[in-house]
Amino acid sequence: MRKPLVAGNWKMYKTPKETEEFLKAFLPFVQNNEIAEIAICPPYTSLYIAHQQIKDTSIKLGAQDVHWEDEGAFTGKISCKMLRDSGCHYVIIGHSEQRTYFYETDETVNKKIKKVLSNHLVPILCVGETLEQRNQNQQKEIVKMQIEKAFQTIKDIGETVIAYEPVWAIGTGINATPEQAQEMHNFIRSLIQSLFNQEVAEKIRIIYGGSLKPENAKEIFSQKDIDGGLVGGASLKPDSFYKIIQSVI
Ligand code: PGA
Repeated sequence: MRKPLVAGNWKMYKTPKETEEFLKAFLPFVQNNEIAEIAICPPYTSLYIAHQQIKDTSIKLGAQDVHWEDEGAFTGKISCKMLRDSGCHYVIIGHSEQRTYFYETDETVNKKIKKVLSNHLVPILCVGETLEQRNQNQQKEIVKMQIEKAFQTIKDIGETVIAYEPVWAIGTGINATPEQAQEMHNFIRSLIQSLFNQEVAEKIRIIYGGSLKPENAKEIFSQKDIDGGLVGGASLKPDSFYKIIQSVI
């Protein structure tokens, strides 16, 4: 049985003080949660304070990106070791905003995944097609290529999570329908089976992201191959994030 994962991707929101306030309000809601695994991915500057507050709970900490080198003259970059020592468990890799605005390519995604896995962190690999690609019915081809390249020459993907995030659904208020999402998740699971084996395909968690909110989460999460969500905007408020977590069946 795959344990669902609901992860909050805070993007460039919340100072350390705002992070502290969020967690003070949020932690009482989830004290006895056993339904889903919960993670928050705040900005780097909030990792320390968040770790202090959640280290004795079951909530996991994640970062939003990482550099693939161990250390060196890479101004502005953060290494896996720095993230691990800050209490991180997950690292989001290949988010569409990184791909669109910050020169992330399938090659850099591949380097980052290798480094993250070798540092005993867990990648959350983001994949998804643009609206133009979907309008041309290329979504499966695109996602297949992104996944094949991300995992190139990797034999053991460990606990890696895949987040299917159609670019046209991110931050737009327009979510994929449960059927569209299920179709893609099922396609991704079959692809994982062909790239690795059945055991890996049954074990891997494939989560959905893109305009998840309390109003649509239940229907999306009820689909067979959808193992939780990566939540942007709606994870910034304790009550809406909690309502989405509660929607996991
Ligand atoms: P959204 O973002 O929930 O605000 O659409 C999701 C994401 O970018 O991970």
